[in-house]
Amino acid sequence: MTDKKIIAVLGATGAQGGGLVRAILNDTGGGFTARAITRDVDSDKAQALARQGAEVVAADVDDPESLKKAFAGAYGAYCVTFYWEHFSPEKEVAEAGAMAQAAQHAGLEHVIWSTLEDTRQWVPLDDDRMPTLMGKYKVPHFDGKGEANHLFTDLGLPVTFLLTSFYWDNLIHFGMGPKRGPDGKLAITFPMGDKKLPGMAAEDIGKCAYGVFRKGSDLVGKTVGVTGEHLTGGEMAAALGDALGEEVRYNMVEPAVYRGFGFPGADDLGNMFQFKRDFEQYFCGVRSVETSKDLNPELQSFAAWLARNKRRIPLD
Ligand SMILES: NC(=O)c1ccc[n+]([C@@H]2O[C@H](COP(=O)([O-])OP(=O)(O)OC[C@H]3O[C@@H](n4cnc5c(N)ncnc54)[C@H](OP(=O)(O)O)[C@@H]3O)[C@@H](O)[C@H]2O)c1
Repeated sequence: MTDKKIIAVLGATGAQGGGLVRAILNDTGGGFTARAITRDVDSDKAQALARQGAEVVAADVDDPESLKKAFAGAYGAYCVTFYWEHFSPEKEVAEAGAMAQAAQHAGLEHVIWSTLEDTRQWVPLDDDRMPTLMGKYKVPHFDGKGEANHLFTDLGLPVTFLLTSFYWDNLIHFGMGPKRGPDGKLAITFPMGDKKLPGMAAEDIGKCAYGVFRKGSDLVGKTVGVTGEHLTGGEMAAALGDALGEEVRYNMVEPAVYRGFGFPGADDLGNMFQFKRDFEQYFCGVRSVETSKDLNPELQSFAAWLARNKRRIPLD
């Protein structure tokens, strides 16, 4: 038994949850302990978390009873859904609902819901500046998360809504890194025009979430937007060029072109970037570097992240 407050962390073997588990475990005097939730307690990643001191428990976000067991006895929970595993906003909403029910059942004192905007509040379905996808969404992997917000407040849960930012890690894992053109030059391709894209190290999302738990009731009922830096495509390309020691250009394309790239989710991401471009002032405004640094004093800039990670970016 421990007298530390237990934070139950979904996605503990992944980017957001993993960052949070490590932040909790690294702060040995912080009064919190991590319960890492995974579908497979025997996986290498789960075992690594156990060795670092996390309690590792099994649950599946599609099995509400397993969530109730995983949250039992905890002080708080980090709730996140995994859109790219299934490409279904309806599933995300159902999963968020099961998380909220489990949080209520366990009587949690603080829940963080990792969410994003329901973009239909800015771009209604009949607004044809971007196509409607799957019949009722503009940005499917955003809209379901935003739609699910009320499932937490409807139950009167002590929830903090965490608005996350684009992971710079997408340059490594999501095929968004610099590519060589026919001229042999490297370029990154985004449909952001000259607008700024809030981005951050995925690891810093978890560290900021830990800051939210540390502030406790101060941030219950609040929405907190986190980011490492707001950068234009040109600024990202210049920083990449400095880090890689080779010129990187910004290939500015229209959202319609990006939607047509044909990889799974290209239309969703094309709409997402268009939303961020067209509502730059709102989107950047709600994601504050200053707030993020206050929650996580180790917050990385893009240049600092590149210095650590540039060798992991695949270049053809
Ligand atoms: N990429 C970006 O720029 C970005 C930015 C903001 C927000 N997001 C959002 O971030 C979310 C994903 O978070 P992430 O990047 O931290 O995930 P991730 O790194 O892909 O890791 C996902 C983890 O979740 C667990 N998981 C998957 N399905 C599960 C299930 N049915 N039940 C229980 N656990 C399950 C897996 O753990 P086990 O295999 O151990 O069970 C996996 O390690 C997405 O919804 C995405 O929209 C992404």
